[in-house]
Order: sequence, then structure tokens, then C-alpha cells
Amino acid sequence: MDHFIYRDGTLHAEDVPVSRIADEVGTPFYLYSTATLVRHYRLFDEALDGMPHLVCYAMKAASNQAILRTLAAEGAGMDVVSGGEYARAVAAGVPGDRIVFSGVGKTEAEIAQALAGGIRQFNVESEPEMQQISRIAAQMGKTVPITIRVNPDVDAKTHAKISTGKSENKFGIPIDRAREVYALAASLPGLDVIGIDVHIGSQLTDLAPFELAYRKVADLTEVLRADGHDIRRLDLGGGLGIPYARSNETPPLPSDFGALIKRTVGHLDCEVEIEPGRLIAGNAGLLVSRVIYVKQGADRQFLILDGAMNDLIRPAMYDAHHDIVPVVEPDAGIEQVAYDVVGPVCESGDTFAKGRTMPPLAADDLVAFRSAGAYGAVMASEYNSRPLVPEVLVKGDHYAVIRPRPTFDEMINRDTIPAWL
Ligand code: LLP
Repeated sequence: MDHFIYRDGTLHAEDVPVSRIADEVGTPFYLYSTATLVRHYRLFDEALDGMPHLVCYAMKAASNQAILRTLAAEGAGMDVVSGGEYARAVAAGVPGDRIVFSGVGKTEAEIAQALAGGIRQFNVESEPEMQQISRIAAQMGKTVPITIRVNPDVDAKTHAKISTGKSENKFGIPIDRAREVYALAASLPGLDVIGIDVHIGSQLTDLAPFELAYRKVADLTEVLRADGHDIRRLDLGGGLGIPYARSNETPPLPSDFGALIKRTVGHLDCEVEIEPGRLIAGNAGLLVSRVIYVKQGADRQFLILDGAMNDLIRPAMYDAHHDIVPVVEPDAGIEQVAYDVVGPVCESGDTFAKGRTMPPLAADDLVAFRSAGAYGAVMASEYNSRPLVPEVLVKGDHYAVIRPRPTFDEMINRDTIPAWL
């Protein structure tokens, strides 16, 4: 459920007409709903009620500081994967002891940054990384909590580019090598080995792969405890999918996910962390765009928008489907038209949808891409020298621009021309 609904014949974000923001901010822009972000966070938090837990929002999904602060005020922790994300989380007011650091390639500088600023735990992904963290922590006179991410060799049955729990993926240590890797970790200075981490992929629409992975983690917990490790925290990752095509998708709910966690690891008396990103931010955001032209091709009509693949890369990159709706509510029963929905960027990959049936649209009409809050703005680029589009946050009957549109000068003046030219 989200808070983007038609009212009085026009799409609203909570209590603000989307067209009003479009007129004032210009298009394209990303638009987030505070109520939806908060609602989604709470669904996860409530799903884990009764067990010690922390919901660490995977901020790679949407990392504007206003979004982070909104969630942190609800009690969320953050899952970060770079020094930049760590700095953003801290700037947004998230305390270090609510930040977990994931990722296969943490650099020396990133490790030192997190150790200096404070960190809840590192989710370690390899032996060399473990040795590196141990060395830096010991040098700084610190002992840092770590979990070790295991690769359970489970097929998440999602898009290959976002599947992370198969043995051929770069993530985690093979689960059958866990005992020797934990033994190494326990022998190293500067590390407090407190738990196990797993994350098998993103946009999972079936709970079965989670269940397989979590059962393996539960078994491993007992094995490692028998080896003498004090396993007391399980980071179970993120990955729960969202309905992109509302008409025909019904992925499991956070409550189902929570029940599964309780069923699979609840008996272990561990603190649980989860790292949802997409389900918190995805349906809390729209990309709003304006029709520039409707163009008649040889055998089809092109709807040419002012938004493009550089603003929302998911369709080009993953063949992702996003529902695209007119901002003015179409009359019930209006005859639909098929469009290839495209942007102005100079390559054919700049196609959002082919043969999409929609109510007839004309130049200057506004459309909204649904489910664009996660992996939307954060994956945008300035390809074709198109400035990054603004981000806007709505709360009730008011809104704020939370990242303004850069001017051309702001964009191009980042280049420096060497003195010899
Ligand atoms: N934890 C870890 C360690 C992750 O790698 C990810 C996502 C998450 C949590 C959050 O997963 P979520 O709950 O959002 O599914 N750009 C792609 C998605 C990449 C996901 C990467 N890792 C897309 O647009 O579909």
C-alpha cells in the first residue's frame, strides 16, 4: 500500500497534488511519500516483534539524507556499503552503533573511517578482508564486532544480476568452509566474532529460497556454537520483493517474512537484523515526467518523455517493468492506446516500455512511474549531460525539495581544464 492516490481527478502524493509540485519544481523529478516510507519500515519492525531485532535499512535503495533521517527517527539502523554511504548515514544523524557495514570490497580507508566513527558490526566477506579489519582495529586499539557473510548456495530465483547467494556469486564465504574461516577469525586480534550474515538476492517474490538459506544459517549457528563461538546475532539480509505490476503480482508481506524468520531461527535466542531496502523505499517513490511529443512511427506510436534511462535505469538494465500512470485520472472505460514509452537519450536502450497500453496522452501531459523509489535516483547518471533530477519529499499537505536540480553551470563546472589547454 502507498499514499499515491487519485483524488478529485488527479494523482496526489499524500495530500499534495502531484501536478502542483510538477509546476513548481519542473519535471522530471523523484517524489517520495513520508507516510509510505514510515509505514513500510513499521511493517518490518512489527513483523519481528517479540524478538530482539534491528531493521537496518539498506540505504543503497534510496539514500537521500531526508529519507535516512525519516527512517532513523523511527528507530531504523542502516546497512551501508561504502565510505560515502557511511558518511551520509552519519550526516543524517544515525549513530554509529546502528550502522552495519556490508560489501565485498571494503577498503582500508573505509574500514578506518567506520572504526573511527563507530560501527555496530562489519559483515565480513572474505579472509583477506578479515585480516585487514583485524590489523586496522588492533592498530587503532579497538575490538570490533563482526559477522561473517556466508554464501549458502541457494538460488534466489530472481534476476541473475541481483542474485547473490549462489556459489558462483562473488558474495560471502562458501558455507561449507565456515568452520575454518570462523576459527581463523577467532584467532585474530581486534575482532569480536558475534554472528552470521546472509543475503541471497533482491526482488524475491517467493519465501522458499529465504527459508532454505535461513535453515542453513540456523544449522550453522549450532555447529559454530559447538565449536566454541558465541554466536548471538544473525543478520538475515534484505531482498523481499515488491509488486511492480500491480495488476498481477502479490509477493509475500513483511509479516510473512517475519513469521518465517521466527520459524527458522527464533529458537536460537539470537538478536536478529534484517536489511530491507526495496520494500521500504520502492513503492514510496514516483518518478514524475512530462510528455514532450507523441510521435507516429512506421508501425507504432512513441510516447517521448522528458525523463530518460539516465534518470531511471532499471528498465534498460534489468528489463524491469514499472507501471506508468497518467497524473490526470483517466475516465473509467476510456479506450486504451499502445505506446512505446521512451526518453530523449540517444540510444534505443532508452526505452521504458514497449507496446504499453495506456489511456491516450498528449504533449505536456504528466505521467508517473510507480515503484521508482528504490534503485531510482541512486542509480541515476548525467549521461547526455542531463543534470540529476531533483528529489522531493511529501509529508501530509506539504512538501520539500530534498535535492535541488543542479543548473547546467553546477554540472559542467565540476570539470577542470588543465593549464596546457
Ligand atoms: N543487503 C545487502 C547485503 C544487499 O546487497 C542488498 C541489495 C540489500 C540488503 C537490500 O536488498 P533489497 O531489500 O533492496 O532487495 N539495483 C537493483 C537491486 C540491487 C540490490 C543490491 N543489493 C535493482 O534495481 O533491482
